[in-house]
Amino acid sequence: VTPPTPGVAILGAGRAGSAIYARLREIGEAPALLWTRSEVTAQAARADGFPAESGATWPDFRSASLVLLAVSDGAVGGVAQSLAGSIRPDAVVAHLSGALDLTPLAPFSAEGIAVGSLHPLVSIAQRRTSLAGAVAAVASSAPSADERLSELARKLGMSVIRPIGDRARYHAAASIVGNFPQVLLEGASQLLRSLGITEQESQRALGLLLQGAARNAAELGPAAGLTGPIVRGDVEVVQRHLNALSDNGEVRDLYVAAGRIAVELARHRGSPRIDDLKALFAGE
Ligand SMILES: NC(=O)c1ccc[n+]([C@@H]2O[C@H](COP(=O)([O-])OP(=O)(O)OC[C@H]3O[C@@H](n4cnc5c(N)ncnc54)[C@H](OP(=O)(O)O)[C@@H]3O)[C@@H](O)[C@H]2O)c1
Repeated sequence: VTPPTPGVAILGAGRAGSAIYARLREIGEAPALLWTRSEVTAQAARADGFPAESGATWPDFRSASLVLLAVSDGAVGGVAQSLAGSIRPDAVVAHLSGALDLTPLAPFSAEGIAVGSLHPLVSIAQRRTSLAGAVAAVASSAPSADERLSELARKLGMSVIRPIGDRARYHAAASIVGNFPQVLLEGASQLLRSLGITEQESQRALGLLLQGAARNAAELGPAAGLTGPIVRGDVEVVQRHLNALSDNGEVRDLYVAAGRIAVELARHRGSPRIDDLKALFAGE
């Protein structure tokens, strides 16, 4: 057993905190502490093979030079308030949230502690979900925090982006790609189910199609990866789709909103009849 590496403390033994712990342990740098508020979560983490601890009071963080607040978004501010005063002044404290900027970490900043965030652009469904090979968004209040979090990302096998400006715009981008494939699957599945296909059959058929389309989009890029009637300039087929969706307003709205962006991608590709398609969607 590799002894724990002093210096890193992870607060929160849910999916994200545990996934980070797992990867650091894999490379022989297991954090010194994986701590969570409730014994129920600690037990679940231990059942998954993590040495999680819990307790009613905060553990001793004084040896930690990097403290990761791997707690739910809504808890970050409160945890920061209650931890202020118990972190080393030369430490870096970071949260893992995509939605939050660094404001909830203000209690640390007020003490002169460098703060930041590292948001893995990964859907971490389980404690053992791998982070390696994905991208993390890093934000920081000081170069020392950026350095420490970039180093952490590198150890996790992740490359780094540093979005600036409105955090909600960043998180909306992550939500569109991370959460809406499910919405596309459900919308399309409603149509197949109305044609006598069972839920299971439509999920399998459309799920496979979704995987292929997502691979095309990711590997070739949005414009080059686009297929279908819009990029072929087939105005009549698109008109027939819109007519066929007249009894399902929400799915039709989804088609129109996505179709408008697809028309601009098709324009980029030099597709025929772009202005006719644009006019068709503009009238919707
Ligand atoms: N899962 C993902 O796909 C993903 C991806 C990127 C980033 N993140 C970010 O990672 C962070 C943790 O999310 P998660 O997915 O790991 O959530 P999770 O699996 O639900 O775990 C939540 C953790 O937060 C702790 N917690 C909740 N409320 C708390 C409070 N008031 N005080 C102290 N601890 C509290 C829980 O502790 P107890 O259960 O012990 O109470 C648990 O350890 C979030 O900021 C999230 O946005 C998640």
